[in-house]
Amino acid sequence: MHKRLILGVSVAVAGLLLARPSAQQQAPVNQPDDVQVRPIEPPVRPLPPEDRTAREKKFSFFAYGDTRSQGPARSGEPAPDGRVLQGPHSAVVDAMVAAAQRLASTQFPARFVVSSGDAVLYGPNGTMWNVSYVPLIDRLTRQAGLPFFFAVGNHDMTTRPIGDPEREHGLRNTLSAISKLLPPDGSPRRLDGYPTFAFGYGNAFFILLDSNIATDKKQLEWVTRQLDGLDRRRYHLVFAVFHHPPFDSGQHGGDLLEPASAAIRAVYLPLFRKHHVRMTITGHDHLLDHFVERYEDGGRAYRMDHLLSGGGGAPTYVYTGEPDLALYLKENASQNVRVEHLIKPGPAIADNPHHFTIIRVDGDKLSLEIVGTGAAPYLPYGMPRLDLN
Ligand SMILES: [Fe+2]
Repeated sequence: MHKRLILGVSVAVAGLLLARPSAQQQAPVNQPDDVQVRPIEPPVRPLPPEDRTAREKKFSFFAYGDTRSQGPARSGEPAPDGRVLQGPHSAVVDAMVAAAQRLASTQFPARFVVSSGDAVLYGPNGTMWNVSYVPLIDRLTRQAGLPFFFAVGNHDMTTRPIGDPEREHGLRNTLSAISKLLPPDGSPRRLDGYPTFAFGYGNAFFILLDSNIATDKKQLEWVTRQLDGLDRRRYHLVFAVFHHPPFDSGQHGGDLLEPASAAIRAVYLPLFRKHHVRMTITGHDHLLDHFVERYEDGGRAYRMDHLLSGGGGAPTYVYTGEPDLALYLKENASQNVRVEHLIKPGPAIADNPHHFTIIRVDGDKLSLEIVGTGAAPYLPYGMPRLDLN
């Protein structure tokens, strides 16, 4: 195997806006078009206004990401996205609809879905959204009735910087797709013009941000203000949802540290520790990975789970190796930061089936259930439910 590129954090952060396009983004299939993206239908049961759910402390929500199709089978051929409904993603949606029905009569009904991005292969192509993605999410919002909250990925926005026409086209298409699902510009929970927003439900608060631009000052200031101003007597649990994982042992991780992930480590994790964010939910790698970061603050011990659940339908990946955390641990030694790799992806494609995650909130306690859509049962934690306390 050829030696993979290792980037230092500071170099990587500086180079974030210069990130190289992926092979698929260089392929001729990635053509923008002028097709208007149809908005996903609003949920049958919208999330109530924040102040009406303050007493809710028992519920579930679903997390997943990376639903895009593969690229074209051969150069010059069209990709599945833009031609057909996303097949593996459709199976995941079916499993979510069934899980929502199963949970409806329990103490922990499913209340909403969060996605960590990469909806379609090439975001500036409106046909891909309309043909392959939007009709599937309509099933979640109409059939299952669930609110749906989307954090943008690199395939949605491209890796171009803010203001670049290619990124702006991807942003326009993404915002059109989710226009009935996120707070509008001018809302206190929305960063105007950005796909960056927040919402609260019960004792849990969620921030969804654009990790393609993790070094963007305006976004960082907005997220900081949301956290600074948060009523922590109510919101005991804070979740951050975005695309690029801080720690990853799959195709995009191991001994490769991508610029956006390096930026998340350097820019956001210190902020998240300061505010005792309970969990990050990411994707980008098409598999399940889970790290636990432990640290001390003000003489108390804290835990932040980093869940990567990127098995939403894109071709799955495999374990490649452990990330190099030496520099990260050294830079954050003052808080006695330690990182445990709770579970690893498997070495073969068959070990990493498509899936989504059910996160159960029970007061201050969290637990996870992974729902696979493969032929064989998928129990990555070795048990049906994992408590995170
Ligand atoms: Fe991605």
